[in-house]
Amino acid sequence: MNLLLGLTLWVTLVAAWVDNQGTTCTLYPESLVHHGQAVDDSPSIQQAFEMCGTNGTVIFSKNVFHVNTVLNTTNLLNCDVHLRGELRFSTNIPYWRTHAISVVLQDQVTAWLFGGTNVNFYGEGGFYNGGGQAWYNANKNESNQPGRPMSMTFYNSTNLWVDGLKIIQPQFWATFVWASKNVSMTNLFVNATSDSEWYTMNCDGYDSWQSDNLLVENATIITGDDCIAAKGNTTNLHAKNIYCEGGTGITIGSIGQYPETPDYNLNTTFENVHIKNAMDGAYIKTWQGTRIYTPSNGDWGGGGTGLVKNITFRNFTMENVGLPIQMSQCVYSADSNKGCNTSKLQIEDVKWQDIRGTSSFNIAASLYCSDERPCPNITFDNVNITSVNASLGLPYYNTDIQRELFQCTNLVNKKGSGIPCNQAAPSNFSQWIYGNVDSSGLATLSIEAMVAMADSYENSVALVIVGCDRTRRFLHFIILGNGPAAYFIPEPTIMQSAKMAAQTRVLALPEILTLVLQELDLQTLLVSAQRVSRMWRAVINDTPSLQAKLFLRPISTTETSLAPIFNPLLATKFPTLIPKNDRSINQPTEFVDLTGVDIALHPTEESAYLRPEASWRSMLTQQPPAFTLASITRSVNAEGVSLKRSRGPRQDEGLRMGTLFEWVLSLPGYLFPIGVTIFFGGPSPVNANTPFFNSGGFWADLYKDIVAKHDVILSADMGSTSDISNEDERCLSSEDADTRDRLYDAFLRAGLFTSDLLFENYES
Ligand SMILES: *[C@@H]1O[C@H](CO)[C@@H](O)[C@H](O)[C@H]1NC(C)=O
Ligand SMILES: *[C@@H]1O[C@H](CO)[C@@H](O)[C@H](O)[C@H]1NC(C)=O
Ligand SMILES: *[C@@H]1O[C@H](CO)[C@@H](O)[C@H](O)[C@H]1NC(C)=O
Ligand SMILES: *[C@@H]1O[C@H](CO)[C@@H](O)[C@H](O)[C@H]1NC(C)=O
Ligand SMILES: *[C@@H]1O[C@H](CO)[C@@H](O)[C@H](O)[C@H]1NC(C)=O
Ligand SMILES: *[C@@H]1O[C@H](CO)[C@@H](O)[C@H](O)[C@H]1NC(C)=O
Ligand SMILES: *[C@@H]1O[C@H](CO)[C@@H](O)[C@H](O)[C@H]1NC(C)=O
Ligand SMILES: *[C@@H]1O[C@H](CO)[C@@H](O)[C@H](O)[C@H]1NC(C)=O
Ligand SMILES: *[C@@H]1O[C@H](CO)[C@@H](O)[C@H](O)[C@H]1NC(C)=O
Ligand SMILES: *[C@@H]1O[C@H](CO)[C@@H](O)[C@H](O)[C@H]1NC(C)=O
Ligand SMILES: *[C@@H]1O[C@H](CO)[C@@H](O)[C@H](O)[C@H]1NC(C)=O
Ligand SMILES: *[C@@H]1O[C@H](CO)[C@@H](O)[C@H](O)[C@H]1NC(C)=O
Repeated sequence: MNLLLGLTLWVTLVAAWVDNQGTTCTLYPESLVHHGQAVDDSPSIQQAFEMCGTNGTVIFSKNVFHVNTVLNTTNLLNCDVHLRGELRFSTNIPYWRTHAISVVLQDQVTAWLFGGTNVNFYGEGGFYNGGGQAWYNANKNESNQPGRPMSMTFYNSTNLWVDGLKIIQPQFWATFVWASKNVSMTNLFVNATSDSEWYTMNCDGYDSWQSDNLLVENATIITGDDCIAAKGNTTNLHAKNIYCEGGTGITIGSIGQYPETPDYNLNTTFENVHIKNAMDGAYIKTWQGTRIYTPSNGDWGGGGTGLVKNITFRNFTMENVGLPIQMSQCVYSADSNKGCNTSKLQIEDVKWQDIRGTSSFNIAASLYCSDERPCPNITFDNVNITSVNASLGLPYYNTDIQRELFQCTNLVNKKGSGIPCNQAAPSNFSQWIYGNVDSSGLATLSIEAMVAMADSYENSVALVIVGCDRTRRFLHFIILGNGPAAYFIPEPTIMQSAKMAAQTRVLALPEILTLVLQELDLQTLLVSAQRVSRMWRAVINDTPSLQAKLFLRPISTTETSLAPIFNPLLATKFPTLIPKNDRSINQPTEFVDLTGVDIALHPTEESAYLRPEASWRSMLTQQPPAFTLASITRSVNAEGVSLKRSRGPRQDEGLRMGTLFEWVLSLPGYLFPIGVTIFFGGPSPVNANTPFFNSGGFWADLYKDIVAKHDVILSADMGSTSDISNEDERCLSSEDADTRDRLYDAFLRAGLFTSDLLFENYES
């Protein structure tokens, strides 16, 4: 009997992965009979909801389900769902990018569209595993990447209760409530934490849009973006007992993105909230009043209207929060300098009550309403925020203010607000702040802080807003990324205005620019930084220390015996001509190989190299520069060895790469297959480790003498004269010699043989 029962069950399982008993559908994963393979369970899940989604129950058994294709389980009616297993979403990024379901807002998509009427979803020990790490890694710290799906969207639902939903590693926003009413989410757990070097980016915990009468109770959300964000037309939302860690806090917004659809956000209460280590706390964020394109949002936005009214933030504890209390009316216009004061989205009747804890910097509140729509009835009751530094008994860093700031702009009846309003709010706090603010309203940024921020970006020139000046203008900083050597640099137009306010003690911008440029790697300084603007180019061209760093001007030194630093950029573009700096005296000599130089390898770049003003030509080969030149020609013939030594004209401004290369090209082509080398002379010559040089005796001494007394020595071995008779010249032709001939012609045509080096005999 027992055996028979077991057998029946087994048969049922094999026949269908939905075990349907009356109105109950129990799901088992395909992997159970496919030797654990990740066979897609989505079809059976769809089937279960089709069979039991109306007046029924769907149970995910305690197993691992592989979700490899999108789920659309909508229009459920009187349905209970029990999630007891793991839903493991595949990380087939190209698939999801092309198949996830549209949710309309911001052209976003979702992996699972779920909804219905009178639906209960119980997360009974089961969980949703979005496999987000693959998305975070693929995203590489970029902003909105198109096609990243939200984990779970609750759509077109009425009377929906979601209890105990647990989402780990969400692909994008974890939960999204859309076009629904009477939706309760209780005991929600979201953990979006990246295990790699790449940040999660854009993994909100809970978002709502076009929905009414919502409850969020008992939520733990660990993420890098909004924990809770009430987007347009969210009304009567009540969120309570929330733990929010990392990211950008609890917010209304962002709203005002689309002029066609005004946003009404009314009747919302957030209470009993603990926010830890976050950039923002309890705030409202809108777009500016004009439309702009924002790469960070991946879309056009701004110009939207609407109303935010009757919002309460109550009983919040802040723990190290950048902007604990905030209203911004230009959250995305950071990089376009479009003022906050244009927003036409009205905010009124907002209350912050019982707000305590610590701010990361000296700002407790920054409240900015636009000139267009000042805010009435903004009130505060029992707000007590202390800077983390002050709470540790430390002074505010780099500022003349020793108390917490409450910045207010365009609040109607500031006096009655309940906070001191002791400074004007700048118009440009979007949702990021990286430092204290001083009495002029200027953000005080330490280079260290900039570096810490910039370190998180790579290979990019991007704009990030980090502060404001006293005229309430945007203060842009440009990240010139290249891994750890990246820095924030003030944007030039702001430098102008900052210069005008010369008394501002915080940012002596040209000095900072110089300081910061000084730290850039050579390539960035030479190429990207110069392209930023005319102003930057001017700073780079006019600053002797930067010119020296660029190898365009000799470093000032009286020390003649300093070991040279070879130009690292030239070492990569002209390998075998310019040594790498780690080349030791013992390494074998490198012969000049013209086929390996950049200009020969990349014919498409030849014309750029051949420009008379191309910067490589005027770069010094080394610092301190090479001033003295010599050449050695060794011929071996029937009569034995002969050595011709000569001395070149002194290079008073230092030897430039253009001169050296012309010199090399001027050597007869037939020398190259045999051997041309460049020694860098001095007491410990570099690249002079030839057998002949080391042989000892008379010949070696002749070498050593001329090498010791000159900075750069071209050495050519001619072999036997009989080898280079006309008849045999073809034998000596090689790729190297052909390259020399080709380049020689090109340089000749371009009129680049300008150095005219005249050599004279050298006798020691
Ligand atoms: C579902 O149940 C309701 C009553 O609760 C009933 O009116 C309706 O006909 C049922 N639908 C189906 C498809 O069984
Ligand atoms: C989702 O399923 C519903 C039926 O429940 C259907 O009407 C709708 O078109 C589907 N949506 C998508 C995007 O497949
Ligand atoms: C939304 O749900 C209702 C039932 O409440 C249904 O009649 C309607 O077709 C659904 N709309 C869409 C677009 O699925
Ligand atoms: C969140 O996820 C991270 C990374 O997987 C993990 O280290 C951390 O313990 C998790 N936190 C909680 C509270 O589960
Ligand atoms: C929220 O958590 C509290 C404390 O754990 C508990 O008493 C309460 O029942 C929970 N609320 C819901 C709706 O589960
Ligand atoms: C919000 O609702 C109003 C009126 O009901 C409507 O005009 C507007 O388009 C809606 N906005 C959004 C974002 O849905
Ligand atoms: C806001 O709440 C009040 C009082 O409960 C209610 O009368 C009003 O209809 C609500 N507004 C909206 C848009 O739901
Ligand atoms: C404001 O919203 C709350 C819910 O958040 C509601 O209880 C209250 O009645 C509303 N007040 C008004 C005046 O609409
Ligand atoms: C305030 O919120 C905390 C959770 O952050 C909660 O423990 C406490 O009970 C709340 N206080 C009141 C008076 O509700
Ligand atoms: C101010 O806001 C409070 C609620 O925060 C509300 O009760 C009151 O009616 C509002 N007053 C005005 C004049 O709007
Ligand atoms: C504000 O909070 C600090 C630190 O918790 C506390 O020392 C201080 O007494 C509080 N001030 C008021 C007025 O409650
Ligand atoms: C990505 O961004 C995060 C947060 O800003 C930062 O900590 C991390 O170092 C960045 N990763 C890389 C590789 O730049």
